[in-house]
Amino acid sequence: MALKQDILSILENMRGKAVSGQQLADMLAVSRNSIWKAIKSLEKEGYRITAVTNKGYMLDSDNDILSKESILAQLDDKYKQNDIIVLKTTTSTNSEAMKMLQDKKIRHGTLIVSDEQTQGRGRMGKSFFSPKSGIYMSVCLCKDIENISDVMIITPAAAVAVRRGIEALTDKDAKIKWVNDVYLGKKKVCGILTQADIDFESGKAGTFIVGIGINFVEQDFPDDIKDRACALFEGKPDITRSQMIAKVYSELLQLTDNLADHSFMEEYKSNSLVIGKVISYTISGQAKKGRVEDIDNNGGLIIDEEDYGKRMLTCGEISIKSADGEWI
Ligand code: BTN
Repeated sequence: MALKQDILSILENMRGKAVSGQQLADMLAVSRNSIWKAIKSLEKEGYRITAVTNKGYMLDSDNDILSKESILAQLDDKYKQNDIIVLKTTTSTNSEAMKMLQDKKIRHGTLIVSDEQTQGRGRMGKSFFSPKSGIYMSVCLCKDIENISDVMIITPAAAVAVRRGIEALTDKDAKIKWVNDVYLGKKKVCGILTQADIDFESGKAGTFIVGIGINFVEQDFPDDIKDRACALFEGKPDITRSQMIAKVYSELLQLTDNLADHSFMEEYKSNSLVIGKVISYTISGQAKKGRVEDIDNNGGLIIDEEDYGKRMLTCGEISIKSADGEWI
């Protein structure tokens, strides 16, 4: 078991390049026959490994099986000691994280990823469509809290992290729909659900589970979302999910390293879908409309509301009126 993981780790780190059976045997101090057996076993699990004549084994660059090794291979050294848990299936990576939190098994930076979720959770008690081959990840942030407004920027930070990941690894221009949805054009490609466990006695510490779901490849979306959802790739992806997960994870840890630093909100604002737009929302059950003037440094929406005037919105759902009059 450990040998297979060690070989996978070497192959992941050399993706697209060959390493000979003898080199592997020397590196891992085992026989070439043991290497051959472990390679066969990896192939049975679905890894496409090419035997390159006179060169050795090569993990094909388009393998997209999620594993701890595939994510570690994409991470900077400073994150390699963090706890990374990769599951084939789960009800919800956020629920897994909450369970670990209750069992006191969570550390700052713990990352939980699953190939699918059977009960993916969205905001406002909604479900999140989570078939195989998507990105479902929960990042645990254990933070000291100096100021409660600093907590408000965790979800916007996650939206910026996803946008940066998409910008760095694809040619797509993702935008952020307040407060925590990431869009490609008029369709949602990513949703974020942050759950918090704050030590109210001291009010000084909290654990935040930031759950991020990205529709990675085209899917048969259910009827209720098929007109509003899209995937990052319509054809064959030219990156792996592990690359995207590692990028988003590192960006999120970096952006939330110092919660008092809200400077990335400029980036959030310059990629916002809502500033200057007419939006609709409800307040105490009443439908309202207004124009978004700005987003403040804590992520609050500053609105000029019809028949009311200036209003600040700090949470809730909004719809945006796009240039062609359609509401998204
Ligand atoms: C939303 O769009 O309403 C938020 C969706 C959040 C989905 C992610 S997927 C990983 C994590 N686990 C969950 O069950 N939900 C979040």
